[in-house]
Amino acid sequence: MFVLGIETTCDETAAAIVKDGKIILSNVIFSQTDIHKEYGGVFPELAARSHQKVLYKVIDQALQEAKITKEEIDVIAVANGPGLMGSILLGLQGAKTLAWSLQKPLIGVNHIEAHLYAAMMEQKAIYPSMGFVLSGGHTIMTYMPKAHHYEEVGSTVDDAIGESFDKVGSLLGLDYPSGPKVELLAKSGNAHLYPFKPGRVKKNPFSFSFSGLKTSVLYAINGQNIKEKTLIDEQKKRDIAASFQRAAFDSVKEKIKKALEVYSVKAIYFGGGVTQNQYLRDVMHENFSLPLFFPQKNLCLDNGAMIAGLGYHIYQRKKRGDRLNLRGYPKIPLGRNSPFRYNLLKKGSSHG
Ligand code: KG4
Ligand code: ZN
Repeated sequence: MFVLGIETTCDETAAAIVKDGKIILSNVIFSQTDIHKEYGGVFPELAARSHQKVLYKVIDQALQEAKITKEEIDVIAVANGPGLMGSILLGLQGAKTLAWSLQKPLIGVNHIEAHLYAAMMEQKAIYPSMGFVLSGGHTIMTYMPKAHHYEEVGSTVDDAIGESFDKVGSLLGLDYPSGPKVELLAKSGNAHLYPFKPGRVKKNPFSFSFSGLKTSVLYAINGQNIKEKTLIDEQKKRDIAASFQRAAFDSVKEKIKKALEVYSVKAIYFGGGVTQNQYLRDVMHENFSLPLFFPQKNLCLDNGAMIAGLGYHIYQRKKRGDRLNLRGYPKIPLGRNSPFRYNLLKKGSSHG
C-alpha cells in the first residue's frame, strides 16, 4: 500500500511516499530556514505563504522519486496538528483537494505522535514504553502502555527544548535554527566550565523548564546588569554552548531517572528535531541500559515519511478515511482527548 504523507505544520514543506508503513520510497523536504533566518524564528504568515507556493511541487517530486503516479497512491495522510494554524491549513487543504480529486481516503495524523513513530519505523514497537518528543515546539514525556495509547507524564512549562537551543544560539550570534550550530560549537567547549543547572518545576517533578537556563546563559554572556550586548571570544562561546547543552540534556536525564522509579517500561523512544543531537544520544546510551530508540537522523526533523508511516497504521486500524471536513488543530494532546479517537477502538494493533 502506497501512502502519501504531507507535513506542513511549521516551516518545512514535506511530502513522502511510504510503502506499507515502513519502506520509504521518497522523502522530500523543502526547508524555509532561509526565509525565517532574518527574523530569528519562524514568521507564521511567511511560512503559510511559502507552503502554498511549493506544496504541489514538493508532492510531485515525491511521486517522481518514488516512481509512482498519483493514481497509484492508496491513502493520503496529512499532519493536521499541532503546529501553526496557517501552515497546517495549507497542507490540509492541499491534501483534501488531492483526496477529493483522486477519490482516495484521507487520514489526519498527529504530528507529535508521528515524531515518536519515526523511531518505531524500522522494527516492531515495544510496550509498555516511554516516549520523549524533543522539538522546536514541544517537549513532551509520555507513557505508552500499548500502541496508540498515550498518558502525558510531563511537558514544558515555558520554552520548548529546541526553542531554548535556538534562543541560546541567537545569544551566541548563531543563525536560526541554531540547535545544530550549538551542538557543533559545544564539541570543542568545556561542558563543566559554567555550572548551569537544569530547570526544575516544584509542583511536578516531571515538568520541564528551560527559561531559567536561558537566563543563566544570558548572564554568563552579558553579566547581570549590562544592557548592551557584550562581545565574547570564540572559546567562551564554545564553553557556554557546551555547558548549556549539558544542562539542557541533564534535565532529560533526570526526568528519565525519576520516571523509571515510577513507571515500569521496557524501552524509551525519542523523536523530534533535537534528537538529531549526537551528544544527547551518547549521554542517554551512557546512562541507561534499557533499549533506547532514536529515529534515523533524516527522520528527526519534520518530514512526510513519519506522517505517511503512521498514517498507514491508522488507516489499517480505522479501515476508512476521515471526512473531508477534517479540521486543523494548533494544539492537540496525545491520547485520550485527541480528536484521533482511533486509540479508543477495541481492536488491537501494533506497529511492525
Ligand atoms: O521537530 P522539529 O523540526 O520542529 C518542530 O516540530 O518543532 O525541530 C526543530 C528544532 C529546532 O529548534 C532546532 O534548533 C532543533 O530542532 N535541532 C537541534 C539539533 N538539530 C535540530 N537541537 C539541538 N541539537 C541539534 N543537533
Ligand atoms: Zn515537529
